[in-house]
Amino acid sequence: MASDFRRLVQDSREMTRRSFLAMAGWAGFTVASLIALFQSVKFIQPNATYEDPPAFKADAPSAYPVGSTTVIIDKRVVINRDPNGFYAISLICTHLGCTPRYFQDVTSDLIAAGTAISKDPDTGQEATKANPALPGFKCPCHGSRYFRDADNFFGPAPRPMDRVHVELAKDGKLFIDRSIVVDHHYRLKV
Ligand code: FES
Repeated sequence: MASDFRRLVQDSREMTRRSFLAMAGWAGFTVASLIALFQSVKFIQPNATYEDPPAFKADAPSAYPVGSTTVIIDKRVVINRDPNGFYAISLICTHLGCTPRYFQDVTSDLIAAGTAISKDPDTGQEATKANPALPGFKCPCHGSRYFRDADNFFGPAPRPMDRVHVELAKDGKLFIDRSIVVDHHYRLKV
């Protein structure tokens, strides 16, 4: 009788141990499966990009007087309005990609130092001793300079800054797409 009881107790202990090992095994399997599933989903899904979209809306044309230069520094874009229309410049230095800054005078120090400055090929403007100050852009990285219309005239920049697409949106605001480079003669007439 006593030996039957002992065997019963032993059997029940054996069952408990087996159940525990089985549960631990299933738990381990479940965790491993979940980790594998998570890694697979992460691999399949592309990483999200948080880059600024290339196209954006600016203000209505009336916000830009004729002759104005408006720098939108967070978009790295300049909106110029001339008597014959609007054009937009991508404010990225063509040397190594820094962001040039706009100044009312980017030429008179060079003229004072005796540096010859070529004419702006698009506007025909020229800085001279009699009229030394022309507006434009200076790059803070290696000193390239550009006329107001983005033509380079000094420093290591190999070419003008790009002009980018500008059009009138349906709501009457300017719509600029930095991903579309346009010809230097492009103008939006409003
Ligand atoms: S990046 Fe502008 S001059 Fe070098």
